[in-house]
Amino acid sequence: MNNEALGSLNDIDPNYPTPQVYDFLARSDNSAFLEYVFNDPFGCHVFPGDVPDYPLPSFFEDMDREIKQAKQIHLWAYIPTCRYRCHFCQYPTVILNPKAASSQVVFRDLVDYNIKEATLWLQKVPSLAQAEVGEFNIFGGTPSLLPEPELRRLMGFYLNHFNFSAATMRFEGEPGSLTKSYLLLLKELGFTKISFGAQSFDDRIISACGRMHSAQECVDTIRHTREIGLDWVSVDLIYGMLGQSVDDVKFDMEKSLELELSHVVIAKLHMEEFMKSRTGVSGERQSHWQRKGLININNMTFPGLGKQYQMRELIEQYLSPGYREHPTMYFHQNHLESEKWKGLITDLEKQYPEVAIGLGGSSKCTRAEAINITDYNAYKQALDEDRLPIEGSRGISPLQREVNAFKMALSTLVPVNDTVFKQRFEGRSFYDNPIISHTLKTLVEKALVTVDGDLVSLTPNGVTLVEAVINTQFVTPQA
Ligand SMILES: C[S@@+](CC[C@H](N)C(=O)[O-])C[C@H]1O[C@@H](n2cnc3c(N)ncnc32)[C@H](O)[C@@H]1O
Ligand code: SF4
Repeated sequence: MNNEALGSLNDIDPNYPTPQVYDFLARSDNSAFLEYVFNDPFGCHVFPGDVPDYPLPSFFEDMDREIKQAKQIHLWAYIPTCRYRCHFCQYPTVILNPKAASSQVVFRDLVDYNIKEATLWLQKVPSLAQAEVGEFNIFGGTPSLLPEPELRRLMGFYLNHFNFSAATMRFEGEPGSLTKSYLLLLKELGFTKISFGAQSFDDRIISACGRMHSAQECVDTIRHTREIGLDWVSVDLIYGMLGQSVDDVKFDMEKSLELELSHVVIAKLHMEEFMKSRTGVSGERQSHWQRKGLININNMTFPGLGKQYQMRELIEQYLSPGYREHPTMYFHQNHLESEKWKGLITDLEKQYPEVAIGLGGSSKCTRAEAINITDYNAYKQALDEDRLPIEGSRGISPLQREVNAFKMALSTLVPVNDTVFKQRFEGRSFYDNPIISHTLKTLVEKALVTVDGDLVSLTPNGVTLVEAVINTQFVTPQA
């Protein structure tokens, strides 16, 4: 057993109850779980294929076929610009001063390259032009830095070349740049959902993670969205950050309830390299905190695993009366819809194809997936040579397709239904899959799931550890 990991688990705030998951993680037969959560990769975003070096023409064929058959797709564009680099962030970013004259060329280039990449996709995957986009997202980085003419140009292209007849549109920004006039522009362009990172509502914590906005700016952004009639606002928070105590997370939860946030994404701080574990959005380089090490920076320390799980329990305690979690980390008010784009790609009865345009994006269907280059110069070079900037593609074997479908369904926290599974896989039950049935046996023994007829449900420990379950437990049984 890793002593460091156990030490971290024993870092507990005496003013709060010992987290429920403590006993499970402390047991030596659960060391794989402890190891995983101690290392902390980003959990449930990419469900990797099992056939390496999959030829790109086959990837495009698979995408074309499945997009043709799917009711809808999730389409997103990634804009990597940021005003600063947060100390926890591994996303591929292009840091610039948005006001500088030299930055205007960068914005223009970014939009040009994004349009070129999307055009190449439309050529390689002909069904894409007609496919009904369920939700369109502009993710970042900080897309709210894009100057108005460039954003209009980008949106003009997407609206003209893709089928937006049923699409909702969602935009990711950062509080310092989501001004009231920018929000009005987004509304005019058809965006109805806004999301931004706050990470915390405490200025001390916000500044310790290297961000250059205040808690008040987050509150103002929420007020502005409501004033102009954009009621759907999702705020990102992180727990487990430098200098953050369990009390600080309690404060963030009180603030979230006071602000009546419609949607809130609450992630545990992830420190492991995204690329190494291949379980996250394509990270580009180590974050500032990873480079500095975990111990002590400016006399502030990182809370250990024990405190992190106390924080997670506190979050559930505060949010469970008024909010539902679907999928893991994504909370929405009971009377509102859950995140549509997440449902499109993970709900068992959907799991539709996803197409990502931009640096580090990942695209997938049930038969194959591909990730984009994360280095901006290499990305531009590929497009200059009329190549899609894809770093690599993996195929997904028939058995793994079922495993991935099951894992994605587990990540939603909704009980996994074998009847729906059979409809998806020509009558095959998930018990017919040797990897799933073997894993289910272990998960039941460890009391991480319960089985009731056709339904497999996560227990409270299973919900807390769902990322670890998905990323460590589904392995081919030993003969
Ligand atoms: C890529 S950002 C986009 C939002 C926008 N750039 C901002 O920061 O306001 C999406 C969210 O990912 C989360 N995130 C990024 N790196 C993370 C990490 N290492 N661990 C946990 N969450 C992380 C943050 O909550 C962040 O708001
Ligand atoms: S968290 Fe958001 S603002 Fe911070 S560096 Fe990452 S993408 Fe940029």
